[in-house]
Amino acid sequence: MALWGGRFESGPDELFRALNDSLRFDFRLALEDIDGSLAWAKAIHGAGVLTDTDLAGLTGALDAMRARVVANPGLPLVEQTDTVRDEDIHSYVERKLVEQLGPLGKKLHTGRSRNDQVATDLRLWTRRAIDTRLAEVREARRSLIDLARRELDTIMSGYTHMQRAQPVLFSHWALAYEAMLARDAARLRDARTRVNLCPLGSGALAGTAYQIDRHSLARDLGFDAPTTNSLDATADRDFVIETIASLATLGVHLSRLGEDLILFGTQEFALVEFDDAVSSGSSLMPQKKNPDSAELLRGKSGRIMGALVSMLTSMKGLPLAYNKDLQEDKEPLFDAMDQASMCLRVVPKILDTLRVNKARCEAVAKGGYSNATDLADYLVAQGVPFREAHEQAGRAVRLAISQHAALDDLPLETLRSVAPKCEADVFVRLSLGAGLASREVFGGTGPKAVRGELRAAQAVLDSEGV
Ligand code: ARG
Repeated sequence: MALWGGRFESGPDELFRALNDSLRFDFRLALEDIDGSLAWAKAIHGAGVLTDTDLAGLTGALDAMRARVVANPGLPLVEQTDTVRDEDIHSYVERKLVEQLGPLGKKLHTGRSRNDQVATDLRLWTRRAIDTRLAEVREARRSLIDLARRELDTIMSGYTHMQRAQPVLFSHWALAYEAMLARDAARLRDARTRVNLCPLGSGALAGTAYQIDRHSLARDLGFDAPTTNSLDATADRDFVIETIASLATLGVHLSRLGEDLILFGTQEFALVEFDDAVSSGSSLMPQKKNPDSAELLRGKSGRIMGALVSMLTSMKGLPLAYNKDLQEDKEPLFDAMDQASMCLRVVPKILDTLRVNKARCEAVAKGGYSNATDLADYLVAQGVPFREAHEQAGRAVRLAISQHAALDDLPLETLRSVAPKCEADVFVRLSLGAGLASREVFGGTGPKAVRGELRAAQAVLDSEGV
């Protein structure tokens, strides 16, 4: 049963149907379409369109349909046959109502358009999906915080330009990603405030002709308020764009986490080892254990960014109000949500089982002259101006390289040949622990600062709720 046809002499071409029909993906809006329909029935009952009996009949049928879809989310697809093919989820819900209720089923669509209906469904769906993602981000943050707590005594090398730079705590590294994910959660929450507005009652584009109360309709559906302009409400999908943009940013963060973990897991770095449960082997090379989980954290982000570009491009240049191009909003949104969900859920699986090689982390941090800045800082404390101290420390590094030694392995006399202000206490200052301890500035990698950072991250997570 098509929702239109009175004006048409012949039916649609097969290829056109394949192009136009959206049930194969928008069946995922079934629950939202039913919830929107329940609220709409109540609204038009309030406007005098439906009698009490009508409302009770429609509500009973919609409630029963809801229960069937909850039990089997793929039901709309299952209920397609060669002869009964619904154009979209709205057609499906209405057909089922009419099959069950006869003429009463045909009253529900009074004053409503699929244009305000689909915008409402998609906002309801997005709201629910954001809430689920927020719970997943929370669990990923929990796993980063737990990793940070486990590795509070592990010193590793920090890198810039992928060259060993200065020692940092492994916990500081983990909490850096936690901070990124905390902002991603904030972005999703912020996007949700603009998602959570109710377009229903906007009609096809101009508003509905029935005396419904859009404020109580919005409240019934858990929206914060009705949308304020019917042309805008039926034609814009910026709420989809900004939701995917938040997911794309999250994807970039997960991608960087994945890349760090891949590097750290190589035999060259050998700082961490992945559990078998999140690794895979090679069909040819028996010795291989590959970090596919982390590679897909990196890889999937490209797909989420693609969804963002796809949405932006679909919207660009669309004249007001609704155009069928807008039907292209769903697949990118659904896919971005699905991929983000899978990635977020795999993060705790990777991190909770990650083995960190503490000894190797420290050995790497000790090599590479990552205490050269500490030597310069020591010389500054001895009264040498920083630029000169930098120069002297650099010469000390060159000297040490030529002798295949670490800075703190050089005899005091050798150090003094390039940095005359060095005294015996310089060696204490050059130790890894002293280097870290000197960076107790707020936000720095000093052990006390990182403990504070950890406590604060945990407190924020606890206070946020889901
Ligand atoms: N399947 C359509 C979509 O997703 C529903 C709205 C159709 N509206 C219309 N006037 N043809 O956008």
